Amino acid sequence: MLNFNYRNPTHVVFGKDRMAELDQLVPENARVLITYGGGSVQRFGTLDKVKAALGNRTVFEFGGIEANPKYDTLMKAVEVARAEKIDFLLAVGGGSVMDGTKFIALAITFTGDTASLLHHGFNPVPVANDKVIPLGVIATLPATGSEMNAFAVVSYQGGKYPMNHPNVYPTFAMLDPELTFSLPKIQVANGVVDAFVHVLEQYATYPVDARVQDRMAEGIMRTLIEIGPITVAEPTNYDARANLMWSATSALNGMIGTGVPMDWTTHMIGHELTALFNIDHAQTLAAVLPSVWRVLATQKQAKLLQFAERVWDITADEGDEAYRVEQAIAKTEAFFQQVGLPTRLRDHGVTVAQIDAVIDALAAHGMTALSETGKVDLAASRQILEMAW
Ligand code: NZQ
Ligand code: ZN
Repeated sequence: MLNFNYRNPTHVVFGKDRMAELDQLVPENARVLITYGGGSVQRFGTLDKVKAALGNRTVFEFGGIEANPKYDTLMKAVEVARAEKIDFLLAVGGGSVMDGTKFIALAITFTGDTASLLHHGFNPVPVANDKVIPLGVIATLPATGSEMNAFAVVSYQGGKYPMNHPNVYPTFAMLDPELTFSLPKIQVANGVVDAFVHVLEQYATYPVDARVQDRMAEGIMRTLIEIGPITVAEPTNYDARANLMWSATSALNGMIGTGVPMDWTTHMIGHELTALFNIDHAQTLAAVLPSVWRVLATQKQAKLLQFAERVWDITADEGDEAYRVEQAIAKTEAFFQQVGLPTRLRDHGVTVAQIDAVIDALAAHGMTALSETGKVDLAASRQILEMAW
């Protein structure tokens, strides 16, 4: 196992009918800015419940944070927060609203060029801890894990920029599966696949004898395989949705990623596909992951064989190693299709000629040495994209 630090300060408040507890979770004298997306929280009544639970606190609202939140939109919220002297942010929505609110939390007191906050990649954004405005979240879409991690992704000038800071862990995360019953089926399917791929980007590398992390990862994946199709088909099945919600949070709250190598190749290529062609985040992953594995099958063979055996019950007597790895990839692809996501770039209207633009974007964003070995250069990314077409 590799050395690691692990700290996760988010207070998880899980389950139905807990909205009234907001009164204890948000500081009593806070000046609160509620942030939300394109209107689903208004349509389905969540926003009214949130405001009622906040009682007599001074509350402002900022709506209109779009999917793949844009820097320019978020800066409008920053202006409101500065003008109204906001000291607590409350994100109500999916990953885009939660991520956008983390950016707002970092930008409010920042006196330099706020766009520079986006250019620190996987290093923490250099903002002093006591300059970050605290935030809480009420998650309405189980997918990204943003509710219990310190990451965010912000869209800016045709790119998607990952960022992180230790003080943007939400102080609390309210996870009520019933708030997600109103999701369109496709967003639920996106959530199943995003969570599944988060597990895999922390698992499908090379073995380091991290047994707890491996078995937790395998447990989350088996859970998603069991409940994924059910929760897509039965939106109001509470138990299935509760299991999706906790799977998605557990997939990216840092726990299974401790002490293991990671490979975020699928996400980094996927972000370019979203930025260029406006394909939903999870749908880019469903198209790219199988090809990443096919191109890197030798490098990842030991873990893919473990994945085949422990997640898909593919036993040694079923064929040689290469056959079993391919079976595991094919079953994963079929699972993505079963919940309702296409697994080819051409299904999204992307042409072969457009692969050049993806390669150019990867080059422009410095994504030229991806995977756990750093060996996925632009030529390998091209091979992955051509295979994914
Ligand atoms: O905007 P509204 O009207 O609220 O509608 C949203 C949006 O259109 C809708 N929605 C959300 N909750 C709903 C609902 N509709 C009905 N009922 C509800 N309860 O769903 C649509 C998609 O929402 P969005 O927040 O964009 O989806 P998701 O949660 O998948 O977030 C995607 C974003 O997260 C980033 C992605 O890159 C993308 O920008 N990620 C963040 C990560 C992190 N912070 O750790 C990791 C991920 O890998 C990912 O990169
Ligand atoms: Zn993701």
